[in-house]
Amino acid sequence: MRVLLTGAAGKLGAQLQQQLAEKHDVIGMDIIGDVDHLLDLTNYAGARELVRRISPEIVLHPAAWTDVDGCALDPKKALSINGLASAHLAAITAQIGIPILYVSSNEVFDGTLNRPYTEVDLPNPINPYGYSKWYGERATTQVNPQHYIVRSAWLFAHGGGNFVQAIRSAAESGKSLRVVTNEVANPTYTNDLAAAIAQLIETERFGSYHLVNEGAISRWQFARAILDQSGYVDTSIEGISRHEWKRPSLPPEYTPMANFAGSSIGIKLRPWQEALRAFLTAETSA
Ligand SMILES: NC(=O)c1ccc[n+]([C@@H]2O[C@H](COP(=O)([O-])OP(=O)(O)OC[C@H]3O[C@@H](n4cnc5c(N)ncnc54)[C@H](OP(=O)(O)O)[C@@H]3O)[C@@H](O)[C@H]2O)c1
Repeated sequence: MRVLLTGAAGKLGAQLQQQLAEKHDVIGMDIIGDVDHLLDLTNYAGARELVRRISPEIVLHPAAWTDVDGCALDPKKALSINGLASAHLAAITAQIGIPILYVSSNEVFDGTLNRPYTEVDLPNPINPYGYSKWYGERATTQVNPQHYIVRSAWLFAHGGGNFVQAIRSAAESGKSLRVVTNEVANPTYTNDLAAAIAQLIETERFGSYHLVNEGAISRWQFARAILDQSGYVDTSIEGISRHEWKRPSLPPEYTPMANFAGSSIGIKLRPWQEALRAFLTAETSA
């Protein structure tokens, strides 16, 4: 398949590009990085021209403004990139009759359900990042009937800039660690998510999917597991509430997601503990 991939320089995008290239003709675009095409997706004319020129059979759309605190400080920018530019991309793909896959987030939920969210539970975002992702989802589903909405959570990827590396480097430099105990979700390895997306786009089973590593834990428990699996068993972590961790964006409290739709068609991600072990093994052998 000829695939146009947005956000190809990002954590998930780079992994998708690598995995899909084994089987597909993948053309990567992003606003930054060493990609096939540099473009800001809020440039509507540019986005339209790029899609028409490349003439893909599917568009995969993980590009987003993922700085949740930045989004809280500038909600209009968040809506413009994650919402409106995504709506525009959905419209272009609908016009030429090709599918689109929009990558979304656990942060579309308000975190008050007290059980894992299924694909049919109703979103109710509580912060500007979550709202912008929900807008992007809704626009995509309304505009292009050939859509996949893939919600994921707490991505960890090779290449730096995420929670796993932050915890490990804090422990390495002997910094004291304070981590939130009452924010719960599914840590997810980008390699596993990319493999699941590669499977999903072959199915033409359009709809919404929760593609996360199995099992949900708190940030504190995740940090503890990272340290234990990295050999820092004696490093202690102070547990604090999410209200004590002052930041511009308040994340939802309890957003585990259940993968019903994907597993019903054989797309299932391994438990997060196994994924973390695989990630750490790959990091140390790199
Ligand atoms: N990271 C997580 O924990 C997480 C959890 C759940 C869901 N998700 C979703 O998963 C997807 C991938 O996340 P990720 O962590 O891989 O994100 P990422 O590393 O931030 O990659 C996103 C890429 O999109 C680019 N981008 C931003 N604005 C753009 C624009 N206007 N036009 C074109 N490209 C633009 C970013 O550039 P800049 O770096 O310059 O902004 C970045 O290279 C996102 O849709 C995100 O909402 C992520």
